[in-house]
Amino acid sequence: MTTNDLTLAAVGCSGPVSQIFVAGFLELGVKVRVLARNPDRIASRHPEAEVIQGSMTEPADVARVTEGVDGAFVMTPMGMRNRPAPEVDAARAVIEGAQASKLSHLVYTSVLGADRPHGVGILDAKFEIERMIASSGLPYSILRCGTYMEDIFDPNLKRLNEGTFFFPVNKDRRFTYTSQRDVPRFVAEELLKKTKVLNRSFNFVAPDTYSVRDVERLLSEASGIAIKAPFKFPTFYVFSALQPLFHLAGRRFSSILPLVRHFDRHGYTDAGDDVQDLFPDFRMTTLEEHLRKLWPERAAGRAAAKREGDER
Ligand SMILES: NC(=O)c1ccc[n+]([C@@H]2O[C@H](COP(=O)([O-])OP(=O)(O)OC[C@H]3O[C@@H](n4cnc5c(N)ncnc54)[C@H](OP(=O)(O)O)[C@@H]3O)[C@@H](O)[C@H]2O)c1
Repeated sequence: MTTNDLTLAAVGCSGPVSQIFVAGFLELGVKVRVLARNPDRIASRHPEAEVIQGSMTEPADVARVTEGVDGAFVMTPMGMRNRPAPEVDAARAVIEGAQASKLSHLVYTSVLGADRPHGVGILDAKFEIERMIASSGLPYSILRCGTYMEDIFDPNLKRLNEGTFFFPVNKDRRFTYTSQRDVPRFVAEELLKKTKVLNRSFNFVAPDTYSVRDVERLLSEASGIAIKAPFKFPTFYVFSALQPLFHLAGRRFSSILPLVRHFDRHGYTDAGDDVQDLFPDFRMTTLEEHLRKLWPERAAGRAAAKREGDER
């Protein structure tokens, strides 16, 4: 089987974060069926995908999109106001639909440390959902991802070029990263093509953990300009003071701020089995590689200088 023979249902994949995953599957030649309430928007975003109108919160819609596929790639929508319930309810409907269509493999993108609750809505939703999937009777694989490199760095290039990495937490905390582009390659090549179902969760993360100070240094090296994260004071406290307003308005920040607070206290690391333990031959993108790609001219200059040095 090649990746061109694969058909994948993409559920919960019409939001802003998942478009890199869908594009990655399509680039590998996988036929992708995306479920979306607003199909026109998604069809113009991914013209090669088949877009099916429907909601992930309707089991019958999920059953339609997952009927006869080689696997379903599932993401769940972040609940606002730090509440796990909307995300858990969406997952419950997805499981019900997948059971109805007798889905052969459910692949879920989760978070590090989802084996226990943390008192943070976004994380605790994944803890609940992982347990529901594991007891659903569906064949499954769960990828616990670190902070997405494409989400935290790429859209902020302008600010980085002005010398700021906006991450106002304790600079000694350590974080674990995942390149989103590794996910479709792994799911298509290592799981679906080989019809390998793991029936477990594992950490799908790049090697090593990095403190905020390490990231400041790596960003500065990759860009050639001094890039600093702001000190926790005053930004973190200003946002904390505004939390009741975000909560009232039900904005994304109402759920992101409790996560930032958690990061400030604990960072984002986990000692569980990771992809290199289970798939030693699969190469994950390192943080250094990803950051170098953000400033391609500088990386090309460095490579040319190295070639010149080697020739001498
Ligand atoms: N590891 C990291 O660094 C990181 C970073 C950011 C996000 N994430 C995670 O990525 C996941 C997805 O984030 P996202 O921002 O792309 O997702 P999102 O905008 O919250 O939505 C994802 C999907 O949920 C559907 N959806 C949302 N509300 C719905 C509703 N009321 N009824 C039916 N469907 C609904 C959307 O479908 P429609 O198109 O039909 O609306 C979309 O396909 C979250 O679980 C988040 O925690 C992880």
